[in-house]
Amino acid sequence: MKEYFGYKDKVCVVTGASSGMGKATVNTLVDLGAKVYALDMNPCEVEGITEYIKCNLANKEEIDKAFEKIPEQIDSFFGVAGLSGSKTDYRTTFDCNYTANMYMTLNYLKKRMPKGSAIVFCTSTAGLEWKRFKKEQNKVVHAKTWEEVQEATKKLANSAPATFAYMYSKRCLSQFACEQAVEFAKFGIRVNNVLPASTDTGMKQEFQDMVGSEEGLIEQAGLAGRLATSEEMAYPMVFLNSNMASFISGLDMVVDYTDTCLKVLKLKKNIEAISATNPIICAMAKKMMSKNSKVKALNSGEENK
Ligand SMILES: NC(=O)c1ccc[n+]([C@@H]2O[C@H](COP(=O)([O-])OP(=O)(O)OC[C@H]3O[C@@H](n4cnc5c(N)ncnc54)[C@H](O)[C@@H]3O)[C@@H](O)[C@H]2O)c1
Repeated sequence: MKEYFGYKDKVCVVTGASSGMGKATVNTLVDLGAKVYALDMNPCEVEGITEYIKCNLANKEEIDKAFEKIPEQIDSFFGVAGLSGSKTDYRTTFDCNYTANMYMTLNYLKKRMPKGSAIVFCTSTAGLEWKRFKKEQNKVVHAKTWEEVQEATKKLANSAPATFAYMYSKRCLSQFACEQAVEFAKFGIRVNNVLPASTDTGMKQEFQDMVGSEEGLIEQAGLAGRLATSEEMAYPMVFLNSNMASFISGLDMVVDYTDTCLKVLKLKKNIEAISATNPIICAMAKKMMSKNSKVKALNSGEENK
C-alpha cells in the first residue's frame, strides 16, 4: 500500500512540523519512507526525520537560511505553519500565514521542484469565502515580493485586529494557490489547499477563547459532534501531494464534516461572509476585541484575589 503514495526517499519539506497537523504530517511521511526536512521555530521531536531546521517563517532572512540547508531538489512541500492572531500582532500573523508561503513558492519551490512534484497549503475554513472577496485580496496576491506584500498590508496592520489577519491571510493563500496551480501546471507541478475545520491541536485553546467554549468550536466542525484530530487533517494533505492524487491540482479540499453543506443548505448561518479589510468593520472589531480583553483581564484579576 505504501508504494501507491510514492513517498519513498522523496525530499519533503514540512513547515509547522513541531505540533498539531504539521507534526502528524511529518509522522506519516516518515512512516512512508520520505526524507523529511522539518521547519519550525520550535524543535521537532519526531524520530526518523532527516533534519530539523529552526526557522521563524515571519522573517524572510531566516527562510533564506533554512533553504540553504535543504537539498536542491524538493519533491513535496507542505505549508502547514500558521498563527491564529490571538497572541501575535497583525504583521507577524499575516507574514507567517501568507507572506512566507508566497515567498517560498516564488523564490524556491518554482526553481527547485521537478516535474511530477506537488505543493499543498494548509489554509482554513475561515478562508472559505475567498472567491467572494477576490477584489479585496488582489492587491496582496498579485504582489510578487516580501516587501510588496508588506506595503499592501501596511494600513491593515495598523488598523485591523490581528485575528482579522487570520481570515484575510487564509483567503489570500487560497487565492494564491489557485493562481499558482495554473502557473505551475506549465511545469507539471500540482498545487492544492486543505481547508481544515476546528481541529484539536496546539492552537485549539486560542480558537476556544475566541468563540467562548469547546462546544462553540465543535459547532464549527459540522455534524461530527467532535473536533477533528491532527491526523484527520494530515492524511488529506499527504494524499494530495502523493502519486494517488496525480490528476488533482487547484483543489480547495474542505475537510469539515458537512459544515459547508449546512451553510449551503441554509441550515446554518455563514459567519465567514464578512469583509476582512473594510475599515469600518476592522475598526469596530478592534474596539470590540480590546474591550473583551480588558474584561478578561479584570475577571482574571478578580479570580487571582
Ligand atoms: N486547529 C484548528 O482548528 C485549525 C483550523 C483551521 C486551520 N488551521 C491551520 O492549521 C495549520 C496548523 O496549525 P495547528 O492547528 O496544527 O496548530 P499548532 O499550533 O499545533 O501548530 C502550528 C505550528 O506552527 C509553528 N509556527 C507558528 N508560527 C511559526 C513561525 N512564525 N515560524 C515557524 N513556525 C511557526 C508552531 O511552532 C507550531 O509547531 C495552521 O496553518 C492553522 O492556521 C488550524
